[in-house]
Amino acid sequence: MNNQPTKYIWFDGKMVPWEQATVHVTCHALHYGSAVFEGIRAYDTASGPQVFRLKEHIDRLFNSAKIYRFPIPFTKQEVMDACCKVITDNGLPSGYIRPLVFIGPVGLGVRFPAGTKAQVMVCALPWGAYLGEEGLQKGVDVCVSSWHRLHPNTIPTEAKAAGNYLSSILIANECAQNGYTEAIALDTNGYVSEGSGENVFVVKDNVLYTAPYTCGLLPGITRHSIITLAREVLGLEVREQLIPREMVYMADELFFTGTAAEITPIASVDGIEVGPGHRGPITERLQSVFFDVVKGKVEDKWGWLTPVAK
Ligand SMILES: Cc1ncc(COP(=O)(O)O)c(C=O)c1O
Repeated sequence: MNNQPTKYIWFDGKMVPWEQATVHVTCHALHYGSAVFEGIRAYDTASGPQVFRLKEHIDRLFNSAKIYRFPIPFTKQEVMDACCKVITDNGLPSGYIRPLVFIGPVGLGVRFPAGTKAQVMVCALPWGAYLGEEGLQKGVDVCVSSWHRLHPNTIPTEAKAAGNYLSSILIANECAQNGYTEAIALDTNGYVSEGSGENVFVVKDNVLYTAPYTCGLLPGITRHSIITLAREVLGLEVREQLIPREMVYMADELFFTGTAAEITPIASVDGIEVGPGHRGPITERLQSVFFDVVKGKVEDKWGWLTPVAK
């Protein structure tokens, strides 16, 4: 994973040098997790860098802020323009874009004062395959986490909020400690929810299954893209339904989807091989269609790509 600074960060409406994009230690978000964010990819295409599903990511960002009543003092268009600008101004051919909306240093009360406006920053970094290049081809070994995802009406999982990632940190660190690349977390009813930063798909008898929104998961934009491509390009049946734990052991194929993970095959769960124990044919076809679309190699029928330069 990349942590190399780029030159500029868009911070509260202005491009500032990387090292000047700082906040005070009394920042509300630092103490109480009052932040919502997005993770977006820009891909290197023949017509320059293009951002994948920018509008949907910014809609989700504004919805996450709406749930928490964080007033954003910028329009969606301004934040979308900032996402493009951090790619162009930093001279990145491709990259991972991170918009963050947070409550700044407004005092130590949990309830932020009336009239508080959220602060907004957008940065971008070069980023390769999240779960490794080899993982994209061979698949990754995962376990079922001992940590469950959030119960409904505790913390809303449809909001991509910083605090939700405490659950992800528990899941990701535990599985790494036990020698796995990632984990699948169950919801509080014991059904499959999602990975620490990815949605999960099961392939069984040529049908794709994925858990519904009500299983304590973030409704991924990649998840939606894969459902669309599976149905419209590959003509596959896709069912959103409860997935019992044993279904992942009996799957023909299993894969993660996410902006960072893209489409990563799962080779084994809890030491049990999935199908033949490597990437299956449907996962491979979906990867190929997905990468052709995001890299602008085929017609963008769905209007999913936004060029960064106007
Ligand atoms: C917890 C969680 N679930 C699912 C996803 C996949 O969402 P998307 O495809 O929109 O990146 C992510 C990544 O953002 C995530 O962090």
